[in-house]
Amino acid sequence: MKTVAVVGGGVIGLSVAWRLAARGCAVTVYDPDPGSGASHVAAGMLAPVGEAYFGETELVALMRESARRWPAFAAELTEQAGLDVGYRTDGTLLVARTDDDLAELNRLVRWQASLGLTPQPLRASELREREPRLVPRLRGGAFVADDRQVDPRLVVRALRSLVRVEARAVTDLSTVDGDVVVVAAGCASAALAGLPVRPVKGQLVRLRGPVALRAVIRGYLDGRTVYLVPRADGEVVVGATSEERLDGAVTAGAVLDLLRSAVELVPDLAEYELTETQAGFRPGTPDNAPIIGALRPGLVVATGHYRNGVLLAPVTADAVADLVTGGPDADLVKPFGPDRFGGRTG
Ligand code: GLY
Repeated sequence: MKTVAVVGGGVIGLSVAWRLAARGCAVTVYDPDPGSGASHVAAGMLAPVGEAYFGETELVALMRESARRWPAFAAELTEQAGLDVGYRTDGTLLVARTDDDLAELNRLVRWQASLGLTPQPLRASELREREPRLVPRLRGGAFVADDRQVDPRLVVRALRSLVRVEARAVTDLSTVDGDVVVVAAGCASAALAGLPVRPVKGQLVRLRGPVALRAVIRGYLDGRTVYLVPRADGEVVVGATSEERLDGAVTAGAVLDLLRSAVELVPDLAEYELTETQAGFRPGTPDNAPIIGALRPGLVVATGHYRNGVLLAPVTADAVADLVTGGPDADLVKPFGPDRFGGRTG
């Protein structure tokens, strides 16, 4: 039986550990506070194209493959843990306020259509039929039925119940034992394994009210974008800034912008309770794609998932399990190996 040490207990590390344990490996996850990093802040949108940029073809293919795996991943996890993970299939409403916003939104819609997805263009009146609480003054938008969501905090809770976690911080890989060590430490992977992963700050707010929104809403407002991710219990996650900053401060300006955008899209949200303001760090890489593969014999990395860690968890976990124990999914992550940066470490 192989022993595996997974360094990092976010959604990626825990998913990898769960999949490896299912292959008969003896797995320990090392993290002083599992799920307290990017996974605690993430909204949980499973939008295989919504968070990618034009031209990121290989990344989009991986995102779509992972999206395809999410229903089974969520079902298995829910069944094995006996815990709900908040998997919802209500889709995403893309909404635009001005002609320029609609032009930007339509570029995304055309790109999605060129990839074989089927976003459905909607007039303002049709948007409000799908979500009557949207502000009336909108130029138009689209409905993306294929988008899904989960609640990352519930995913972490379910995964934690199924894997062995040792609550300690690892600052030196020589202090963990295993036939294989997997580094899944998000931003900390830079110092641990010399990888070009940098923190990209994101600020979010969470609101809570009596009525849940019907779908995720991604708004284009006078050149700004904002997403509203509703949970069944009335929570709405409003995100997110994207800042090349290292401080973890929640700033008045960011909270103001997020709340203003949210209320401009759905005026009723002004009456909701403001329950959390947060700043977290996405593990960004030079090309926005994750770093998954063997760094050297016995050392595998699965990190740098930037804006897409929750979406990419199933395919990452399956691929790492195959890298460690053998199997075809290892091929899926060949374009994302650590060697592609030519030894660059920052
Ligand atoms: N995936 C959402 C974000 O990075 O803000």
